[in-house]
Formats: sequence, C-alpha cells, structure tokens
Amino acid sequence: MAYSSPYLYFVILYVLVYYVNAFNLYTSPADVGNKSYDFVIVGGGTAGCVLAARLTEDPGVRVLVVEAGGDNHDPDALNTTIPFLAPTLANSAVTWNFTTTPQQELQNRSVAFERGHVLGGSSSVNVLAYQRGSDEVYDRWARVVEDDGWAWKNVRRYYLRNSRIVPPADGHSITGQFIPSAHGNGPVQVSFDNRHDVSNDFVLGAAKMATDTHKFRLDLNAGNFTGTSFLQSSIGSGIRSSSATAYLDPLRIGRENLDVLIGTRATKLISSKTKGKSPSIEGVELGQTKGSACVSVMTKKEVILSAGVIGTPMILQLSGIGPAAQLKQLGISTLVDIPDVGSNLMDQPFAALYWFVNSSQTWDEYLRNTTIEAEDLEEWKTKHQGLLAGASAGSVSYVRLPSNASIFKTVPDPSAGLESAHVEMLYTNGFSRLGLIPFPDKGNFMTVEHVVVSPTSRGSVRLNSSDPFAAPIIDPNYLSSEFDRFAMMAGIRSTFDFLKLPAFKGFIGEPLVDLQLDSGSDATLLGYIRNNTVTVNHGCGTARMSPVGADWGVLDPNLKVKKVNGLRVVDASSIVLIPETHIQAPTYIIAEKAADMIKSDYRLR
Ligand SMILES: Cc1cc2nc3c(=O)[nH]c(=O)nc-3n(C[C@H](O)[C@H](O)[C@H](O)COP(=O)(O)OP(=O)(O)OC[C@H]3O[C@@H](n4cnc5c(N)ncnc54)[C@H](O)[C@@H]3O)c2cc1C
Ligand SMILES: *[C@@H]1O[C@H](CO)[C@@H](O)[C@H](O)[C@H]1NC(C)=O
Ligand SMILES: *[C@@H]1O[C@H](CO)[C@@H](O)[C@H](O)[C@H]1NC(C)=O
Ligand SMILES: *[C@@H]1O[C@H](CO)[C@@H](O)[C@H](O)[C@H]1NC(C)=O
Ligand SMILES: *[C@@H]1O[C@H](CO)[C@@H](O)[C@H](O)[C@H]1NC(C)=O
Ligand SMILES: *[C@@H]1O[C@H](CO)[C@@H](O)[C@H](O)[C@H]1NC(C)=O
Ligand SMILES: *[C@@H]1O[C@H](CO)[C@@H](O)[C@H](O)[C@H]1NC(C)=O
Ligand SMILES: *[C@@H]1O[C@H](CO)[C@@H](O)[C@H](O)[C@H]1NC(C)=O
Ligand SMILES: *[C@@H]1O[C@H](CO)[C@@H](O)[C@H](O)[C@H]1NC(C)=O
Ligand SMILES: *[C@@H]1O[C@H](CO)[C@@H](O)[C@H](O)[C@H]1NC(C)=O
Repeated sequence: MAYSSPYLYFVILYVLVYYVNAFNLYTSPADVGNKSYDFVIVGGGTAGCVLAARLTEDPGVRVLVVEAGGDNHDPDALNTTIPFLAPTLANSAVTWNFTTTPQQELQNRSVAFERGHVLGGSSSVNVLAYQRGSDEVYDRWARVVEDDGWAWKNVRRYYLRNSRIVPPADGHSITGQFIPSAHGNGPVQVSFDNRHDVSNDFVLGAAKMATDTHKFRLDLNAGNFTGTSFLQSSIGSGIRSSSATAYLDPLRIGRENLDVLIGTRATKLISSKTKGKSPSIEGVELGQTKGSACVSVMTKKEVILSAGVIGTPMILQLSGIGPAAQLKQLGISTLVDIPDVGSNLMDQPFAALYWFVNSSQTWDEYLRNTTIEAEDLEEWKTKHQGLLAGASAGSVSYVRLPSNASIFKTVPDPSAGLESAHVEMLYTNGFSRLGLIPFPDKGNFMTVEHVVVSPTSRGSVRLNSSDPFAAPIIDPNYLSSEFDRFAMMAGIRSTFDFLKLPAFKGFIGEPLVDLQLDSGSDATLLGYIRNNTVTVNHGCGTARMSPVGADWGVLDPNLKVKKVNGLRVVDASSIVLIPETHIQAPTYIIAEKAADMIKSDYRLR
C-alpha cells in the first residue's frame, strides 16, 4: 500500500535529486584541495552567490565558492531571516565585528563597521532597503570609466534580472504603490511595509501635500530618485530575501558542478611570473585559523574576488597587489604596484533623531515588554506575520540641498545629477535601534534616520600586519569634508521643516533632544551630529574601476584587475562613485553584469 503513495514517491524523488545533484557543501579545505576548478569565487556574499548561480548555469563549468562564514541555514543564522530583527544582528555569529579607527570628526569615537559573515554576506544581515538609485548613477559611472556598458540603458536588464515585486506579508493590495513596468522578474523578492505603520501614514500623507523637496513620488525604483515614497525592501512572504536565499538555496537541488566551502578564508592568491609578462593568478591558498594547515586550489580560468569592501582589498594586499611602499613596510613582496588598492573608501554617515508622537500604535512597547516581544516572535515563527515580518523603516525621503545653498559657492555639487539626492531620511514607527542614544523608559516615538548619500569624504582599508587573520585598519574618515557636515545639518533642518506641515498636527510632538535650531547657531546641532553619527554600512570603492589605461584605479571597466591576468573583482569594492542610495541593488547589478561579461569572454551558456 505504502509503495503506491504519491507522497512517498515524491519523498524518494526529492531525496534522490537532493543528494545526487545538489551543490556540494563542504566544511574543510581538505575536501577541495586536490580538485581543479574553472573559477574560484572568494566570498559567498551578495555578489558571490549571484556569480555562483549564473556561472554554473553552464553544466560544463566547475565552480568553487569559498566563504569565511557559515551556512545561512545554521541555527545561529535563524535571526537573519526575520526582517525586523536585522538591527540586532551586529556583533553576532553572522558578522565580522570590525570597528573603525578613532574618527577625528566624531569626537575620536570608533564606529562599528558591520559586514555579513555567512552565506549571502551583507545581504543576509543588512537592513533590507532595496533601491537602485537614479538612472544618473549608472550614466555617471559610464562617463567616469569611459565605458558605455555601465550606462543605465545597458545595465537596466541586470536590474530586471535581479528582483521582482511581491505582495507584502499581510497580503494588502499594492496596486497603486509602484510602477509595474519599472520592475523585473528576478529571484530577489521585494515588497512594501506590511503593517500600515501609523508613522508612514503620516509621512506619506504629508508628502502628498508637500510641494517641494519632500513631495510624494510613486516609485523611487523607476529612474528619478528624489522625493518621498514607500520604502521597497528585500522581503518576500515575511522572510528576508538575500543573495543566499534567492540565488543559492534553489541550487540545493540540482547543481552538481558547484562546490561551496564554508568556514574557510582565502588567505592569499597564488601567482606565477614570467619575465617580461604580466603575472598570472593561478589559484588561492585557503585556511581556517591562524597557523592551520594551508590548502591550495588551482583555477583553469579565473579567480574572482567577491570578498567585499574590506575582504577584497585585504586579499589583494596580502598577495602583493597594492601600494608597494606600504606592502614593503609589512614585509610583503610586491607582485604589482597598484597604489589605489584599499584607498578611496566611500561610506555614508548616519544620524538618528527622535520625536515623541501622540499614538500608542508604535513598536516601542515591543522593545520594553518581553511578553509582547515573545508573542511577536511566536507570530513570526508560526505564520511569518506581524511586526517581525517587516523591515524597520516603511517610508523614505531623498532630498536635494537647494541649488542656492551656501556650500555650493565653494564646493561643486557631488551628486550624480538633478534627479539624485544629497540626504536621505528613513522613517521608523518607533525608537530606532541603530543609533547611540539609550531608549527612554517612557514615550512613543518616530525616528528619522538621516544619511548623507552623496558624501565627499574618502578613507582607506590598510593591512595592520601580514597575518591574514588579523583585523585591518579601517578609516572611513567620516564627516571629514565640509560638504558632508553641511549636508547632514541641512538635511536635519529640512526634516524639522517637513514635520511642521499641518498633516503632522496632533501626531508629532517634541524632539527628544533640543538642538536649539532657533538660536541662530549650529553649535548644538553639529555637536549632536558629532556625538551620534554612525554608519549606514554602505562602504565601497576600495578596488575601484577606472578607464582602460588610466593611472588611477584598480580595475578595468570589465572588472579585471589591472596589470595581472586571471583575476577579477566583483563586489561593492569595484564601485567608482558611491550611488546616492543603499547599495545592495547596485551591487547585484554589478554582479549580474559581471556574470554576463565572464560568460561572454569564455563563451559559456
Ligand atoms: C548592517 C548592514 C546594513 C546594511 N543595510 C543596507 C540596506 O538596508 N540596503 C542596502 O541596499 N544595503 C545595505 N547594506 C549594504 C549592502 O548590504 C552591502 O554593501 C552589499 O551587500 C555588499 O555586497 P558585497 O558582495 O560587496 O559584499 P558582502 O555581501 O559583504 O560579501 C562578502 C563576503 O565575502 C566573505 N569574505 C570576506 N573575506 C573573505 C575571505 N578572505 N575568504 C572567504 N570569504 C571572505 C564575507 O564573509 C562575505 O560573505 C548594509 C550593510 C550592512 C553590513
Ligand atoms: C534571535 O532573536 C531573539 C529575539 O530577539 C533572541 O532572543 C535570540 O537570542 C536570537 N538568537 C540568536 C541566535 O541570536
Ligand atoms: C563576532 O562576534 C560574535 C560574538 O562575540 C562571535 O560569535 C563571532 O564569531 C564574531 N565574528 C568573527 C568573524 O569573529
Ligand atoms: C582627537 O584626537 C586627536 C589626535 O590624538 C587630538 O588632537 C584631538 O584633540 C582629539 N579630539 C577630541 C575631541 O578629543
Ligand atoms: C524624471 O525626471 C526628468 C527630468 O527632471 C523628467 O523629465 C521626467 O518626467 C521624470 N520622470 C518621472 C517618471 O518622474
Ligand atoms: C506586557 O504586555 C502584556 C501583554 O500585552 C501585558 O499583559 C502586560 O501587562 C505588559 N507588562 C507591562 C509591564 O506593561
Ligand atoms: C534660496 O532661494 C530661496 C527661494 O528662492 C530663498 O528663500 C532662500 O533664502 C535662498 N537661500 C539662500 C541661502 O540664499
Ligand atoms: C594593529 O596592530 C597593533 C600591534 O599589534 C595593535 O596594537 C593594534 O591594535 C592593531 N590595530 C588594529 C586596528 O587592529
Ligand atoms: C492626540 O491624538 C488625539 C486623537 O488621536 C487627539 O484627540 C489629541 O488632541 C492629540 N493630542 C495632542 C497633544 O495633539
Ligand atoms: C556631546 O557629547 C559631549 C560629551 O559627552 C557632551 O558634553 C555634549 O553635551 C554632547 N552634545 C550634544 C549636543 O549632544
């Protein structure tokens, strides 16, 4: 009887397919040591998982992904799947726990510099905002690197290939909340605030009455990137949609030409040098702890570095690809002198401000009352519904400084164009957990998180020692430019103006901190900013692209490392100018385009 059950048949089929064809998940470098691969991808993060999935679509290609962190299905990683818990993932098993050097413009504070340390990388731990920025972002990249392939009209298809809009967890109709023709049909699921948060209702209501900077725009993922709108987030059915869930998990059935090695770091590139020729990269050294046995894997085609804004410049420098003078000081012999490796670190500073609100419909009681916290967690675990099924922010403004702002007398406009912003405001329906001010015992809040999205400060990532397991020296130089300080102050002032609109009457109360804006002095405002600025974690640019033949930059526009053969960088470190937005969608676009370029170079399917 049992043998005729269709259910049992299905189970047997599933087990067969799963164990026969699934990609191979390894935990020890010894498992891959004597194998040879067409491509080794270093870093199973946001970009790395895209490449793994796309390159192995050709069954004739063998790919190894090496990821320092663990499996996204480990019990340790469960909270990465719960959208609302994103801000609680800092300094946990799934992050790298980096901090910056003391930041001079932030009262010499060191700031946490989070990165994902798990399959999916930072897309598994980020706060889920999914935005590609304006068309101008890509058109400017194309101009700066002198390659039209990066222009929006040519990368649009990669955006469409990456994501799709899905209904929010509560199932409410999203007709009229976005422009369907601007969106694609890719594996990353994107949805809207699923709770109808009261703060978002007020923000969007006010935006619909606003006439200038904060005016309502239907869909920020449709080309123009200023104004106020619903925040689109990488969430599907109340669960985080990451590079690991969207690109890698489907291959757990049926992708035998892919090997994934977790818990292992690439420590150094293996190179060979023939006199008179550029050196060739031929493989990677792998290790699990300082001093542990080191295993080599060789490549037939390329090593691809997708280790992110910190990992990628570290591996390059450890392999002798970087600023020769600095490498020498560390006792690393130079393979090729590329001064820009590790420089040009760009990131966006972040400062949260809080207002008391006249409503009990905020999440503040969740933060205070462990009974409510446990109930909400249970609701997510049983139904993937409720508070935890959504991101923290549900609405957002992207604002330009006025063209007559005094800063523009001395500083050129750093934004990509008139449809790109200088400052972003994210609105959350309760006290944000991303700032530094302690949560008060009483009161309901709306938080406005301010981000300078077109910063001009630049920093660096340097090795502190030749030990690949030692933390690097990360100095983003936050707020070191006059523009960045000016923009943060102007953005905060514009929020105060926005919140004075009649639509907020009866809802918005006093700010938690009095910044004495009417005093005619910026002193308190700037003091608050210096005390409270952290990062929105959009670091990029430490292995930036530049035109072919340029005397600056690290990569050619095809993402190949200059002056060597067999090595590409595909991740956020390749970004030449920081987009005026959150950078996971731009990173996905880079990865999808890279996959296409690589397939075309080697005539893969
Ligand atoms: C806390 C946080 C919040 C963020 N919020 C948002 C947001 O809301 N919206 C948004 O768009 N963007 C956000 N970002 C930024 C965005 O997620 C990242 O910029 C983007 O995901 C970076 O992708 P990547 O491929 O460059 O690197 P990553 O995704 O970080 O991948 C790099 C991978 O390489 C691995 N690795 C590093 N070194 C080695 C090594 N030596 N050997 C093997 N593996 C290695 C890492 O463990 C990691 O898995 C956030 C980032 C963080 C950290
Ligand atoms: C996950 O989050 C819950 C609720 O905040 C917390 O109690 C638990 O300790 C977290 N688990 C891990 C593995 O961090
Ligand atoms: C980050 O810190 C957490 C908590 O201490 C730890 O479990 C984790 O292993 C650390 N991450 C790394 C990469 O060391
Ligand atoms: C920060 O450190 C620098 C160098 O050590 C010092 O000159 C400066 O006074 C410090 N600033 C503050 C606000 O402490
Ligand atoms: C985008 O901005 C351009 C230039 O300001 C304008 O012509 C166009 O109509 C805008 N498109 C949308 C969809 O708002
Ligand atoms: C916490 O919430 C529960 C459930 O709503 C409620 O019964 C309880 O009184 C609250 N506790 C406190 C201290 O407010
Ligand atoms: C900029 O122009 C606006 C109106 O056009 C005016 O109200 C404002 O005072 C001007 N600001 C500066 C700094 O000149
Ligand atoms: C760099 O190394 C020195 C000496 O070992 C150490 O004191 C310092 O803390 C390290 N810096 C970082 C950023 O880890
Ligand atoms: C608070 O909101 C209620 C209705 O929601 C309103 O009647 C009341 O006037 C508001 N209070 C203040 C101080 O605005
Ligand atoms: C900033 O921090 C300093 C030192 O902790 C404190 O004295 C000052 O009042 C703070 N300023 C503001 C505006 O928060």
